[in-house]
Amino acid sequence: MNALFCQRRALLDTALAMNRLGLNQGMAGNVSVRTGGAFLITPSAMAYEECVPADMVLVAMDGRARGSRRPSSEWRLHRDIYRLHPQAGAVLHAHPPWCTTLACLEREIPPFHYMVAVAGGDSIPLAGYATFGTAALSEQVEQALRDRTACLMAHHGMVCLADTLKDVLALALEVENLARIYTRALQVGEVPLLSSAQMAEVRARFADYRQPGPPPDAGEEEAGPGGARQGG
Ligand code: 13P
Repeated sequence: MNALFCQRRALLDTALAMNRLGLNQGMAGNVSVRTGGAFLITPSAMAYEECVPADMVLVAMDGRARGSRRPSSEWRLHRDIYRLHPQAGAVLHAHPPWCTTLACLEREIPPFHYMVAVAGGDSIPLAGYATFGTAALSEQVEQALRDRTACLMAHHGMVCLADTLKDVLALALEVENLARIYTRALQVGEVPLLSSAQMAEVRARFADYRQPGPPPDAGEEEAGPGGARQGG
């Protein structure tokens, strides 16, 4: 199995998972993964359950598509995100119910919970409305994502980026969970917000919030209790 086929399979699996996990439904939404100097993206107007890996479309950074299917109508949005964020390896756009509820109310997600910092700042911003699939929409999203990894899209949905397909799906789930909790909190009354100093502290902690990588040579040093190396 070649590497491109594996990426096509992984992309389709992510699109299927996006719907199965309640982030999206039907043919809405689209997902892509960077591959060298191009990216693979889900096809336009096709139910993911009816797709096979060969339906994923390879799109060059100049917009030229290769394959038997038309790429997602949002290929430009994905392309422009890859251009703006050289570190991005995957982009996911969906219409998750809670994010879309806030987006239809033209509300962003403010720092009501510390996890809002997961998108890289003090809020998950709202990109202005423009017709789907247009350069104008791409521009709106570009502005909102200038220093963030996720944003809502007015009267439309949400979009996020991450290093990998696994990470972009996890980020989308986290943002949808925040949107759900924030919408519920709004129903009770005014929602108090964290200060920018408090959010800066969270972001500083996030910078180190991970397990250390595997030791360079596990055989060289004596393992600690339970066989695991200590510290990090
Ligand atoms: P595509 O089927 O062309 O990917 O469009 C779905 C969508 O959500 C447009 O914003």
